[in-house]
Amino acid sequence: MIARFIHIFNMCPAAIRYYSSHIKRVTLMPGDGIGPEICSSVLQIFRAAKVPIEWETVDVKPVIKPKGNCELPKQVVNSINKTKVGLKGPLTTPVCHGHASLNMAMRKQFDLFANVRPCRSIAGFKTLYDDVNVVTIRENTEGEYSGIEHEVVNGVVQSIKLITKKASTRIGKYAFEYAVQNNRKKVTVVHKANIMRMSDGLFLRSVRDVSHQYPQIQFDECHLDTVCLKMASSPTEFDVLVMPNLYGDILSDMCAGLIGGLGLTPSGNMGLNGALFESVHGTAANIAGKDLANPTALLLSAVMMLRYLNMQEYANKIEKAVLDTIKEGRWLTFDLGGRAKCSEFTKEISAKF
Ligand SMILES: NC(=O)c1ccc[n+]([C@@H]2O[C@H](COP(=O)([O-])OP(=O)(O)OC[C@H]3O[C@@H](n4cnc5c(N)ncnc54)[C@H](O)[C@@H]3O)[C@@H](O)[C@H]2O)c1
Repeated sequence: MIARFIHIFNMCPAAIRYYSSHIKRVTLMPGDGIGPEICSSVLQIFRAAKVPIEWETVDVKPVIKPKGNCELPKQVVNSINKTKVGLKGPLTTPVCHGHASLNMAMRKQFDLFANVRPCRSIAGFKTLYDDVNVVTIRENTEGEYSGIEHEVVNGVVQSIKLITKKASTRIGKYAFEYAVQNNRKKVTVVHKANIMRMSDGLFLRSVRDVSHQYPQIQFDECHLDTVCLKMASSPTEFDVLVMPNLYGDILSDMCAGLIGGLGLTPSGNMGLNGALFESVHGTAANIAGKDLANPTALLLSAVMMLRYLNMQEYANKIEKAVLDTIKEGRWLTFDLGGRAKCSEFTKEISAKF
């Protein structure tokens, strides 16, 4: 049974909760910049493939409160509470000023504690390595992203890295469950416990404790800097990697670089009670509205979402159509060295159903 769930842009332990074949409702958040264009590509391809999904489209704009802090719009919260599944385009986060990250707000609001990013070489798009196949699993709720910052005295600020045993154990368990369900062989915990002995030490010990419950999965411990070095020189050494928030943010983008960039890499933010799928790239304001965006990352995130919803057949056929189109090489977008517009790439994929 578990074998049915094994696939390259797979998936999460929670998937086994979905079995029915009737129409699913999903919250769609087009987002900013190129978000609406790539979402429209997904909708067009899903229509062509006759996927039985009903989309509930909502706009994610910050709601600024009187004291300056911001909240998610009620419509977004209500929709996700109802559907439990979302597909999201990128959202703008102002640097050093303005509202806090709405991405972070969503992860906290819905307790989406695991960020999962599969990175696998794509046939037909040549990069330095042909055989990358790693999955990064990032703790999504605390660490350096806990948002606890203050000024001690003028000119001295402090940012607190929060690590708890509960969250570290939870993400460790998730990583091992993912490895079991997806037929992966090894889990590597990434840390800097030689320097941050208490915080990373606790994270490391918690994941190590979990590893004893999974003797069938090989377990390894590796310093972040060593992982970066090895990832750049021999990425096949790694399989599933689990790590605190900031390391995951950086390392997963590095892995994306190994397979051809952010335009190709999907992701899922997984919780116990729902999941949110999104491309890992940002709003790409420099190409927004020009029909130049590569929608592959969001399409493959939507494929992950279909597997989460146990709609395997639709996931397989859409994934195949996307990867075949890239392999054929005639309709590549400019980030992949081609000249096709987003709409032309989308049309070519849609024509395959
Ligand atoms: N999950 C999210 O919502 C998310 C993630 C990352 C960044 N952001 C936000 O996006 C904004 C811009 O961030 P940034 O400039 O650092 O990164 P970015 O990913 O938007 O852009 C980096 C480069 O990659 C290109 N690019 C990105 N996606 C592409 C695609 N699908 N097709 C073709 N080219 C693509 C862009 O044109 C640009 O040259 C910021 O406000 C940032 O906070 C949001």
